Amino acid sequence: MAVQLEGEATLTSEDQHSTEDAVLALFKHAFLNNAAQDISLQRELHRAWLKKGLVSLPPNFAGLDASRPWFVFWITHALELLGDYDEPHWSYQVAGFIAHCQDPTGGFAGGPQQLPHLAPTYAAVSALVVAGTEAAYKVVDRKAMYGFLMRMKSPDGGFKMHDEGETDMRGCYCAIATASMLHMLSDELLEGVPEYISRCQTWEGGIAGEEGLEAHGGYSYCGLAALCIAGKADALDLHSFLKWAVHKQMSHEGGFQGRANKLVDSCYSFWQGAIFPLLHEAFRQKGGSMPLPDDHCWFSPQPLQMYLLLACQHPNGGLRDKPGKSADFYHTCYALSGMAVSQYDVQGNTSIVGDIHNLLERTDIYYNVLVEKAERRSAYFNSLPPLEIDGRSLQGGEGPGAVAWRKRVLASRRVQEVDASPSSAIGRKGGYAGGDVE
Ligand code: FPP
Ligand code: ZN
Repeated sequence: MAVQLEGEATLTSEDQHSTEDAVLALFKHAFLNNAAQDISLQRELHRAWLKKGLVSLPPNFAGLDASRPWFVFWITHALELLGDYDEPHWSYQVAGFIAHCQDPTGGFAGGPQQLPHLAPTYAAVSALVVAGTEAAYKVVDRKAMYGFLMRMKSPDGGFKMHDEGETDMRGCYCAIATASMLHMLSDELLEGVPEYISRCQTWEGGIAGEEGLEAHGGYSYCGLAALCIAGKADALDLHSFLKWAVHKQMSHEGGFQGRANKLVDSCYSFWQGAIFPLLHEAFRQKGGSMPLPDDHCWFSPQPLQMYLLLACQHPNGGLRDKPGKSADFYHTCYALSGMAVSQYDVQGNTSIVGDIHNLLERTDIYYNVLVEKAERRSAYFNSLPPLEIDGRSLQGGEGPGAVAWRKRVLASRRVQEVDASPSSAIGRKGGYAGGDVE
């Protein structure tokens, strides 16, 4: 058996060093060329690239034919973050396409005539929320959806991804977030879920895809967000979760890795980055004496934005995982989502690398759609009478955690609008590249 000596290079350490070198070379390039004052989000390039993708995907995407609602969500959400989702133009077409993916037995499939699956179900409902019209909301057959979600429940408390499919942490998030967005999160749907998620929290502090596996950022977001939506985050050991999460921001690159000893990747800007405001909410839900910081959220937004702006923007539009990779819609969506999360602190003050033009719209940390869209959807579903299922009224609604967070965000925004009005001396705070930031 080969013995590994301390300090000896391995494939993992070599990959880590070459990634650091590639990222630092881009940072140096920007600073040596005095371009640090001018770190800018290439909005026009990204917009054009995203819009092209919404009209038609290149032929090499044929293998992803079972992820079509995801493409619609990734692209339309990225556009709304950029403040460039043209509702009158796209929403009718989005609703029409998503409707074709709905299964008569409930839920959505990855494409027309395919089997319903929890992942495209979450993506389809999110895309309809981004579309933001009543016609889009009405696409969902909520009664059939409820039946589908209940059918996916597995005896261990988790959710299967599809009939006879695997049970993992994605299932919990997709089912709980979907039910909450559609105002049908019930006690029977939630039964056993906190216990299941708690069993998947590992000795490291984060959450694994399944019991006994390694903690990972994607699954950690899924488990924590599902519990926070439901107001049940006290099922977790939040202190060890926080300790694990803070060590996932890379000291050289500024971005996040998904798990220990792995490489930085821009998609974790959201999966890991959104964990911090969620944990803030989770501590709040738990009550107790833990003093919550109100001027930071335990991670560093500036280095994260530097990584995204300097190392992940592709010169032809779109964002990539890391230097050397090509841009794709998944990474564009989650890199921008993570950037948006990092630009707002818990009070709603902004912290922006570069100038104000780099500021994105605010995303809802529970559903990852714009806060306004989450609110508009809520007003619509609140106006409906209770759903009748098998002769009884469904006792379900939106998850209390998601409602409480959004209320606070919207209230603090109203206060800031008053403060920023011309008659006020206070105004809204902002930040600036590489120097002093709020
Ligand atoms: C590891 O890939 C990645 C996973 C095992 C999946 C992670 C889960 C998510 C991103 C969450 C999905 C969320 C929903 C809502 C469906 P890797 O080994 O290639 O990456 P790594 O080296 O960065 O760990
Ligand atoms: Zn990634």
